[in-house]
Amino acid sequence: MLTGCSKSDDVLVVGTNASFPPFEYVGGVSGDEIKGFDIDLARQIAKDAGKTLKVENMKFDSLIVALKAGKIDMVASGMTITPERLASVNFSEPYYEATQVVLVNKDNDSIKSIDDLHGKHIAVQLGATGDIMAKNYSQKVTAFNTGFEAVMELKNTKVDLVLFDSEPAASFLNMNPELKIIELDFEPEFYGFAVTKDKTELLNSINTTLNAMKTNGEFNALINKYMK
Ligand code: ARG
Repeated sequence: MLTGCSKSDDVLVVGTNASFPPFEYVGGVSGDEIKGFDIDLARQIAKDAGKTLKVENMKFDSLIVALKAGKIDMVASGMTITPERLASVNFSEPYYEATQVVLVNKDNDSIKSIDDLHGKHIAVQLGATGDIMAKNYSQKVTAFNTGFEAVMELKNTKVDLVLFDSEPAASFLNMNPELKIIELDFEPEFYGFAVTKDKTELLNSINTTLNAMKTNGEFNALINKYMK
């Protein structure tokens, strides 16, 4: 056995797509640190399981593939629990309620209801719930690897709107005051951490940590730290 090398059993490898503030984003002094609400939760999950956290940043639509290929142990990426995903992976208990919202340029007053999305050119993140939903309303849907790129397209008036999760949309708005958010009657979505179907021990340990953090106030402290 090699000394000085941690066995992979000692490491919890978490996959994320760090373009989804405040859940996961690249920042910090060095400018390449992955931070956010999900990362802080994952760090505690790893700690309670007696492991060191390792974060792998990848494209959002690669996360479940990487999980199933055994490249990562868990997905922590603001991932919505959906029936389609539940068919192939397991999710922790829901830890955050979100919804889709519409981002438009401030002078756009053409969207008052979900019906107004029909025929509009919509930008989304590839493989995200916004991507799947947008196709119900319009045939003109362009998918990007990150929400940032979708927002850039909107600012350049190449698309009419971005359909994205509520909290990251609010973060994008902070960085781009020339945009505005329109809230429509979309269903709530619930985020969960994903693991493969065979990892019941890990799943239990994730849920135990989430419940403990909700009881001891640490979960709320993170909400206050990261959410507006
Ligand atoms: N909640 C949406 C979904 O599950 C979007 C999540 C995107 N997350 C990210 N880290 N880019 O499809």
